[in-house]
Amino acid sequence: MQLSKREFIKTGLMSCGLVLVGCKLKMLDGFANVNKKVFNNFKGETMPFELPKLPYEKNALAPHISENTMNFHYGKHHQAYVTNLNNLIAGSDLEGKTLEEVIKISAAEKKAGIFNNAAQVWNHTFYWHSMKPNGGGKPTGKVLEKIQADFGSYENFVTEFKNAGATQFGSGWAWLVLDAGKLKIVKTGNAETPLTTSAKPLMTMDVWEHAYYLDYQNARPTYIDTFLNHLVNWDFVAKNLG
Ligand SMILES: [Fe+2]
Repeated sequence: MQLSKREFIKTGLMSCGLVLVGCKLKMLDGFANVNKKVFNNFKGETMPFELPKLPYEKNALAPHISENTMNFHYGKHHQAYVTNLNNLIAGSDLEGKTLEEVIKISAAEKKAGIFNNAAQVWNHTFYWHSMKPNGGGKPTGKVLEKIQADFGSYENFVTEFKNAGATQFGSGWAWLVLDAGKLKIVKTGNAETPLTTSAKPLMTMDVWEHAYYLDYQNARPTYIDTFLNHLVNWDFVAKNLG
């Protein structure tokens, strides 16, 4: 088929347009996938589990949490829990289970090795999302109202949360949860997680030494203050509160 010069140019432009639209749609699809991967509670996913993407760059929480800490905490510790978990459940009857199912079954059956790694995969993913650059400080809107209703005041919440983080002996976590319709603060040791209870986690703070030692050495209270003043992602809390 012979095309006139004008038709040739017109056809070419239309093709380019289609390619550009295609590229744009592909990019949007890519963003959707990235967002889905970021935090979806690993819903529907079975092994091999993957280290989820961080919701920000590794240097985004600096100076409060350094890139060096993220390289070890996310890149080494969190990755190791993922690798260990996949190795531990490969070939077992847990192979086709989702992460939450693995956590609950291994807790009930007292399979400590599997539980510890599975829960740490989930807990750390939840922790990364519990923080954001320029976060922290007093929340607003429905989160603040709920805190005031259930703790009496934001200041009471701060005192109780700090106390939970500071008094968790050894390694563990401090959590804000929703339990029977009320906000509560709980602390858990090692890999323990509210997922095995009736409470719904809303946000968490890692108080394992690997979370703060490179930046704060043994000053856990300073790390806790920093978490509350500069890092808590109240938008994430609001989303989880529903
Ligand atoms: Fe950790």
